[in-house]
Amino acid sequence: MSTIIEPFKIKSVEPIYFTTKEERETILKDAFFNPFLIRAEDVMIDLLTDSGTSAMSSAQWAGIMLGDESYAGSNSFFHFENAVRDITGLPIVIPTHQGRAAEKILFSQLGGKGKYILSNTLFDTTRANIEFTGATGVDLLCAEGKIPSVPSPFKGNIDIVALGKFIEEKGADNIPLCIITVTNNSGGGQPVSMQNIRDARAACLKYGIPLFLDACRFAENAFFIKMREPEFANATVEEIVLEMFSYADGCTMSAKKDAFANIGGFIALRDEKLALECRNLLIITEGFPTYGGLAGRDLEAIAIGLHEVLDEHYLQYRIRSIEYLTEKLIAAGVPVMQPAGGHAVYLDALAFLPHLPPDQYPGQALSCALYKEGGIRSVEIGSLMFGKYDNAGQLIPAMMELVRLAIPRRVYTQSHIDYVAEMIIQVFKDRESIKGLKIIYEAPTLRHFTAQLEVMN
Ligand SMILES: Cc1ncc(COP(=O)(O)O)c(C=O)c1O
Repeated sequence: MSTIIEPFKIKSVEPIYFTTKEERETILKDAFFNPFLIRAEDVMIDLLTDSGTSAMSSAQWAGIMLGDESYAGSNSFFHFENAVRDITGLPIVIPTHQGRAAEKILFSQLGGKGKYILSNTLFDTTRANIEFTGATGVDLLCAEGKIPSVPSPFKGNIDIVALGKFIEEKGADNIPLCIITVTNNSGGGQPVSMQNIRDARAACLKYGIPLFLDACRFAENAFFIKMREPEFANATVEEIVLEMFSYADGCTMSAKKDAFANIGGFIALRDEKLALECRNLLIITEGFPTYGGLAGRDLEAIAIGLHEVLDEHYLQYRIRSIEYLTEKLIAAGVPVMQPAGGHAVYLDALAFLPHLPPDQYPGQALSCALYKEGGIRSVEIGSLMFGKYDNAGQLIPAMMELVRLAIPRRVYTQSHIDYVAEMIIQVFKDRESIKGLKIIYEAPTLRHFTAQLEVMN
């Protein structure tokens, strides 16, 4: 069988509302050229995020009806706890309402002024939660991960030499943990190899530094390991996942990704003392430790989703659909991150719009152009999201200027993806007409969510 089919049938549908290019031009202006500020019904294909946007299975919906809403000790919590333990092997499970709540709680315990938290690449909320405690987040991505156009199998790897060097330089006492993001969302959805996780584990162990995983896309990462790391060609995804987590002292997780849930997250740990401190904070900020900001029905949906995501037919279809879009774009000469990532296609906005320097936010300009052309919503992952200012108020640009088209799980069919390719190729043909943007309002943290921009003349 050479055709890879969607391994599901559609039982329930939602309409897509069509808009004209002229209507979208007005919508964009009213949203201050920030796709986050556009109403969802004005979007035709919503690739803003793969987070919380999955289509749940009939088994998950059935689980929702069985949710036990007891305040303490609900059955749904124990289903959830068992699922996390089975899949990760981590014994202590603390539910949270989403990934960033897990980060907030963990880094409130481990962060603080003068501390450094090391990573391959920290996601924006992870970095913000680290910096909120006064600690510094440090990205140590491998060299090949920084060049979008160069294909390499594990571009999400952490640079092991740089990791050792950094620890030696700053001292292990100032480094409360290293956290590896699998797959590496901000670095293109690129996977991390098992060997790299092992090497990071060894480096951390040498200095007594705990190793954590930011595990949002653990199953997609495991499937890449199966496909690309010969040692694992015959291993099951379950076995690979268990081994990945065996090297970790804990993880943070947003269940809105690989657990197919619309909300939810957790911290999983081995250390009882740290767990106690986290639970104490959890009670103040999220809720009792057996629900952690979630309804019993959400816990059920996550427990079921965590097992569903390990289905290799699903993972093959998932990874292939991202590759399919990437290949179409490459064939048309569109500059994209290579190879395809696990959950999204990343356009290289600097190469797409070479006439726009980083301080004209080429990623944001491209994202707006895609909306105008085809009603497609994407997100900039570049200097609007990660840029900083120096003392003179000059922009320090992000490492890369990317536009992410994140594909929600089990939501769009191949013809939707064909449409997306057609629209991107059209925008590429007209690229010289795209103008830069300037910021007219920005919040002090995570500015990309609410920033307002205008077109430069
Ligand atoms: C790698 C990574 N970490 C953490 C988060 C935060 O999770 P949440 O959106 O559930 O707060 C995300 C969300 O996109 C993510 O991709």
